[in-house]
Amino acid sequence: MTGEAAKPSAKPHVDLPYLRQMKAAGRKFAMLTAYDYPTAAAAQAAGVHSLLVGDSMGTVLLGHRNTRSVPLDLMVILAEAVRRGAPEVYLIGDLPYECMAGGPDAVVAGACRFRDEAGCDAIKFEADSEHDALVRKLVGKGVETIAHLGLRPQSVLTPDGYRAQARDENSIRQLVQDARRMVDAGAAMLLLEAVPSEASQAVVDALDVPVVGCGAGPACDGHVVVTYDMLGISSIPPPRFVPRLAQLGSAMQEAMGRYVQAITDGTYPGPEHAYRLRKSAPGALAPP
Ligand code: KIV
Repeated sequence: MTGEAAKPSAKPHVDLPYLRQMKAAGRKFAMLTAYDYPTAAAAQAAGVHSLLVGDSMGTVLLGHRNTRSVPLDLMVILAEAVRRGAPEVYLIGDLPYECMAGGPDAVVAGACRFRDEAGCDAIKFEADSEHDALVRKLVGKGVETIAHLGLRPQSVLTPDGYRAQARDENSIRQLVQDARRMVDAGAAMLLLEAVPSEASQAVVDALDVPVVGCGAGPACDGHVVVTYDMLGISSIPPPRFVPRLAQLGSAMQEAMGRYVQAITDGTYPGPEHAYRLRKSAPGALAPP
């Protein structure tokens, strides 16, 4: 301690060149999902490099059976809140089904809203083999684009439909081919969801861009999980690859139970919770 006044943080904003440098140096980066200001602030303070405003909010936050019905307007508002909470992270907006179903112009418009209104660094979308043209269009508009391959939750309509992908040699070859098409079209990064370690290793070996794994094994350059799953807040059991690092759902329930108890037994509110009259206003509320 020098006794000097605290200086504002000079931490740089994590950007794509920074993540590329991490990859080149063999350093792994940490990504989480975030849909709100306090979660974003906690993630940045914990050293998380990147946050994804994922359409997983459809199931996790809104309680839908699938991710399809998340409105773009809501995602952009929440992405703005996440950016306010975490100004230094590499922030990614996830293009919702509403944009994907609306065709290329709707995709580009959605991507530009994430960038221009919410301050996102990049967008991610769930790509199929034919989406290289869409990547080109986005990159042509100056949008940093991440192609999400492997399990693509927007194609899954019920919670029991989630299945690991690329589990044999042919489908690993197809995955590498799709990944190459996206990178050749200008994708800045790839995200692989629910594929075996051999599949992500093949993609990492074949291509130079950073590869983020979501249940995709150790070869990936960075890893992402749904924060609520990791913190034990989800109402449904999380996928097997999620590390359960806290039980905040049961902690919340326990605290709420104590709140109910304090109200019903009359111990809340106590004198320490009450506002007092101003000293200068004695008798202000006395009857006339
Ligand atoms: O929507 C999301 O949160 C995602 C991650 C699970 C990769 O796409």
